[in-house]
Amino acid sequence: MPTSAAVRSVLIPAAGLGTRMLPATKAIPKELLTLVDRPIIQYGVEEAVRAGIRRVVLVTNPGNTLTASHFAPAPALEAALNASGKADLLADVRKLTDLADVTTVHQPEPLGLGHAVLCGRDAVGNAPFAVLLPDDVIDAEPPALGRMLDVFAELDGPVLLVERVPHAAVDRYGIIAAEPIGDGVFRVTDLVEKPPVPDAPSDLAIIGRYVLTPDVFDILEATERGAGGEIQLTDGLRRLLQTRPIFACALHGTRLDAGNRSGFLRATIHFAARQPALAADLREALDSVTETATGG
Ligand code: UTP
Repeated sequence: MPTSAAVRSVLIPAAGLGTRMLPATKAIPKELLTLVDRPIIQYGVEEAVRAGIRRVVLVTNPGNTLTASHFAPAPALEAALNASGKADLLADVRKLTDLADVTTVHQPEPLGLGHAVLCGRDAVGNAPFAVLLPDDVIDAEPPALGRMLDVFAELDGPVLLVERVPHAAVDRYGIIAAEPIGDGVFRVTDLVEKPPVPDAPSDLAIIGRYVLTPDVFDILEATERGAGGEIQLTDGLRRLLQTRPIFACALHGTRLDAGNRSGFLRATIHFAARQPALAADLREALDSVTETATGG
């Protein structure tokens, strides 16, 4: 019987092109765009740490050294903060450096999420692991990944996080067919990536958290390119389902998709409103926006 402590690594795929956020993502990796006071990826790493996982396998494109450096020591900065007596800021920087152990692996080309996961194979090793997509920022207590680890420990099989989405939007997600087996827990009977709306088996969309077993790697190795010409994780999971049961856990909490413009804006407002020092200013700013205001 596995225990949630058996899951020691979280793989964070961050090697995509981030085309929906261009031109912001031309030089800055998408996961480093800032939501209020920290980059998108920090929310994900903090969630994993709260769930008990400190070991991060970061999958980036080969030219990206910035993302890992956000979590690395910064001796010059620390010395400067120390010399100027900024103890609070120094403590914040050190806390971030100590947050997680980050190992970086490269995905030579963005061949899809399934391929990104496969690139982490050696770093993850022969053990169960979590996958966390940084764009899906989740505000939940207890952390979404923590609940999934509990389900994994209880049911001894891969666990996906799902959220009910509007029916018209099912063609943007991996969708599961499933039967309920407990409070917010399902047994998956089928999975399909981005189905046409009339063909979707349900409105339960897979969102950016997975607890997987290492047998998925051999399957991904043999998975052909699917939707969008990419090696899809959902296609690999569909084949995995032929060999073992897969479970899903319903999201409790708020998911914010920070990977597109409107979602990023909503996420910014959501997290700003959660900070007492910013909430009043935010409200005033939103009130002052008139319908006649135009962007550009
Ligand atoms: P997305 O599809 O949301 O990211 O992938 P993207 O491809 O960068 O974004 P757009 O569609 O062009 O705007 C979900 C996560 O998987 C990673 C992305 O970096 C993101 O964190 N990913 C995706 C990879 O690491 N490699 C890939 O080949 C594809």
